[in-house]
Amino acid sequence: MEEQEKDRFSTRIINCRYNKADAHGAISMPIYRNAAFEFPHSEAIAAAFQYKEEIYSHTYSRITNPTVENLEQKIKAASGADNVMSVASGMAAISNTFIALAHAGGNIVTSPHLFGNTFSFFKFTLAAFGVETRFVNTDNIEEIASAIDENTCAFFCELITNPHMEIADLTEISKLLRQRHVPMIVDTTIVPWCAFDAKKAGVNIEIVSTTKYVSGGATSLGGAVLDYGTFDWKYNKKLSESPYTDTMSQFSFKMKREIMRNLGACIDPDSASMQSLGMESLELRFNRASQSAYELARYLEKQDRVIKVNYTKLETSPYKRISDKLFNGNPGAMLTFSLESKEACFKLMNKLRVIRRATNLFDNKTLIIHPESTIYGTFSPEMKHVMGIEDNLLRLSVGLEDVEDLKADIEKGLIS
Ligand SMILES: Cc1ncc(COP(=O)(O)O)c(C=O)c1O
Repeated sequence: MEEQEKDRFSTRIINCRYNKADAHGAISMPIYRNAAFEFPHSEAIAAAFQYKEEIYSHTYSRITNPTVENLEQKIKAASGADNVMSVASGMAAISNTFIALAHAGGNIVTSPHLFGNTFSFFKFTLAAFGVETRFVNTDNIEEIASAIDENTCAFFCELITNPHMEIADLTEISKLLRQRHVPMIVDTTIVPWCAFDAKKAGVNIEIVSTTKYVSGGATSLGGAVLDYGTFDWKYNKKLSESPYTDTMSQFSFKMKREIMRNLGACIDPDSASMQSLGMESLELRFNRASQSAYELARYLEKQDRVIKVNYTKLETSPYKRISDKLFNGNPGAMLTFSLESKEACFKLMNKLRVIRRATNLFDNKTLIIHPESTIYGTFSPEMKHVMGIEDNLLRLSVGLEDVEDLKADIEKGLIS
C-alpha cells in the first residue's frame, strides 16, 4: 500500500498533489480560466488529440482542464473510485450517465421517490428517447427483481430519499443486481465519502451533486460521476462494444471520449477551484452539521405541534438499523418534519429569522423549504401522490450556526 493511501480522509484530500509541477510552485492549484492550450508543434497537438501522451495533455477546456482535473483527483482520493468525471451540476451528472448507458427499447428500474428534476428526467426526458422507467418500491426486493428483464440498463436510487428519508438496502440489492448483471447507480449527494463507502456497499457508479456539501457553502454548481470499475460492461447492450483500456472501463471511456464532449456540460474552472477548496473542509463541516441535525431532530420530536420527524438516526425511524450500518451512525444534515397542515408550515416558515427560506442542501446556512409548493410545485396532484409528496411536510437542511440559535428560532416559529 502506498504511504498516502494509509492517510485518513481529510489528510488525503488536503495533501492531494496535481500531477504536473507548477511553474511557480503555487501551493493550491491555479485557476486555468482559458479555453484552449497551445502546443510546440503539429505532431504534439495531433498526439494530444489522439490521447497518445503519457501524461495527459489538455487541448480544450470543454474536454479537460487542469483545474477541473485537480478537483477530480481530490474526489478520487476521497472516494477510492477508479475514475471521476466532474460536470456542471448534479443534473448534468445524472443526464450524462444515463445517456451513456441507456438505449432505446431499454429500461431503468428506480423508486418514484426522487428529487423532482431527477424524476422528471426519467419520466419525460429519457422517455422521449424510447427509454422506459419502471418505478418500484425499493424496500421490496421481489418488486425490484420482477421489474428487471434482459433490457434493463441500470438500477438507480438515491442514498436517502428526499424528502421521504427512506434508505434502500444497497447491500441486499447489489446481490440481486450482480446475479442479473445490472449495474447499481446511486445518487449519494445526501451523505459524502467521509461517512459512506459506496464501493463497499456495492455501488458501481456513484452520482453526486457537488453543489451541496462539496462546494464548501453553496459557492458554485457542480456534479460528479464516479466509476468504481466494478461492473462488467459486456452485459450492457450499448457499452459492450465500447473500448476498455488499462485505465478506463467501457463506461468511463464512453463518458470521457464521447458523451461529456458531445453534451458539453463541463464544469467551469472557477467553480472547480472553489469546490477543490470545499473538499478540504468537507469532513469538518459534515460532522458539525450532522451533529446539529441529530440534535434538532430530537428537539423537534419533543414539540407538541410536530406530528412526525424523519431522520434516520432516530429510534423512531424504520431505517435506523440500516442507517447505522451504512453511515456509521452519521446520516447527514437533512431532516424533514410534518405539522398539522400546509398553512401551519407556511406560518412557521414566515416567522423564522435565523433559518433561511431557500432551496438547496448543505449550505453553511440552515435552509427551510416546503417541498410540495416549490420543488414539486409544478407536478399534478396525481403525480405528487405517486411521488409521495405531502403538503404538511417541511424540509430542513442544517448548517453551521450554533444549534441553540436554531432551536430558539424554531421555538419562536412554533408559537401560534
Ligand atoms: C439528491 C439530489 N440529486 C441531484 C440534485 C441536482 O443537483 P444540481 O442542483 O447540482 O443539479 C439535487 C438537487 O437539489 C439533489 O437534491
